[in-house]
Amino acid sequence: MKDQIPAIEAEALARISAATDERALEDARVAVLGKKGSLTLAAAGMKDVPKEEKGAVGQLLNAARASIAAALEAKQSALQEIADRAALAGIDTTLPARELAIGGLHPLTLIRDEAIAILRRMGFALADGPEIEDEFHCFDALNTPADHPARNEKDTFYFDSGKLLRTHTSSVQVRTMESAKPPIRIIAPGSAYRRDEIDATHLSVFNQLEGLYVASDVSLPDLKGTLEFFLQELFGSNTEVRFRPHFFPFTEPSFEIDVKLTVKGQEPRWIEVAGCGMVDPAVFEAINKSRKDQAFDPETTTGFAFGMGLDRLAMIRWGIRDIRLLIENDIRFLKQF
Ligand code: DAH
Repeated sequence: MKDQIPAIEAEALARISAATDERALEDARVAVLGKKGSLTLAAAGMKDVPKEEKGAVGQLLNAARASIAAALEAKQSALQEIADRAALAGIDTTLPARELAIGGLHPLTLIRDEAIAILRRMGFALADGPEIEDEFHCFDALNTPADHPARNEKDTFYFDSGKLLRTHTSSVQVRTMESAKPPIRIIAPGSAYRRDEIDATHLSVFNQLEGLYVASDVSLPDLKGTLEFFLQELFGSNTEVRFRPHFFPFTEPSFEIDVKLTVKGQEPRWIEVAGCGMVDPAVFEAINKSRKDQAFDPETTTGFAFGMGLDRLAMIRWGIRDIRLLIENDIRFLKQF
């Protein structure tokens, strides 16, 4: 037994060192340490070793097992290293990593988020409403008579059900006042739809940002101050803003707002960016009727409203000449923002 162990050990180490792949190494391990392996069988012979020799033989066995295990492990990592190197052969690990394209935000998203941020600082909260609307919320409650041109089939997308794609975000004014009482101070960005002829300044889907402020003492100067401040925050403090009397069924008086656009090498010109006005008492009456209460008493309730074209704001901010660029997904255009 004493002589047998060194022989087993020597043979195992030779076999391990000769192994050239994982398979041969595993075979070598099983042949010596497996259930019927040479060292396992030798250890089973311990029971026949005379008592006084058991200690010495045991030590021999342990030492052999340890040296074989160490040899197996060393060979295992040597084989792994060879495999790793083979896997990397032909790959230049000194090349710079491929650049990840992280993309960017669309100009409409940028201008919308900026507009929201400014108005939130002024105390406006975000509101929302459906894009598939009914005539009541889009027109009737907004004091728009049945024969108003905006309600024409030629100008508005109607569904067979009688519902329609909202032609403006002003419908969110109605929905908000139906579910909340004054004071109300909200903004509602979103899409609007019209059957317009598509050209450099018109799309059949465009983006608006609606605003509504209703309380007991809202005045025209509040409207002017708020919108002037907003536009100067957005376009710079030197921006010239002009309020032009206009007509909207749901506000009285009503205005359109122009911003003076100065592009280098061009004559300055006024660009219309929004409609606005003082909420018409007829709107409050329609809301009360719908709510079945008097939460918006036309005698004491006042408010202003505005609706601006977000696409227009983006076009002004970046000097974009054709609104269609905003929906064409041309990467050469989008990369500039
Ligand atoms: N809804 C109008 C449009 O789409 C814009 C507008 C005008 C909104 C006056 C308002 C407003 O809230 O008070 O042309």
